[in-house]
Amino acid sequence: MKRGCKPIRRLLPAIALAAAACGVAAQDGARGQALYETHCLECHYERIHKRDASRSLVRDYKGLQAEVARRGELTKQRFTIADLNDIAEYLNRTHYRFPR
Ligand code: HEC
Repeated sequence: MKRGCKPIRRLLPAIALAAAACGVAAQDGARGQALYETHCLECHYERIHKRDASRSLVRDYKGLQAEVARRGELTKQRFTIADLNDIAEYLNRTHYRFPR
């Protein structure tokens, strides 16, 4: 092994653990929050997601993902699928709480 590799090798398990603990692997709610707050608040406050379920446009997790993708088209940002999934995850965790 080359000199200098050892400290990095020692750090890797810690990084992997931290990533797992923060839920980085699949959908990333924290990343979704940052994306949402940066790109989605020009038309509505986050309050819109708190309206009564009977008035909400979304009924389940799939519907939320579809709505997020549709709204993403309205922004100037080009979102990736991962971006949209993270935003949906964030909104679901904080507001909708649909089972998935
Ligand atoms: C161009 C304006 C605009 C932008 C930008 C926008 N939205 Fe909205 N969004 C709306 C309007 C208007 C409604 C409400 C429509 C209604 O009341 O029927 C809405 C409703 C929603 C709903 C449904 C709320 C509910 O429970 O009924 C979701 C989810 C949503 N937006 C997500 C997003 C996300 C995520 C972004 C950023 C990617 C975003 N929106 C950006 C205009 C916008």
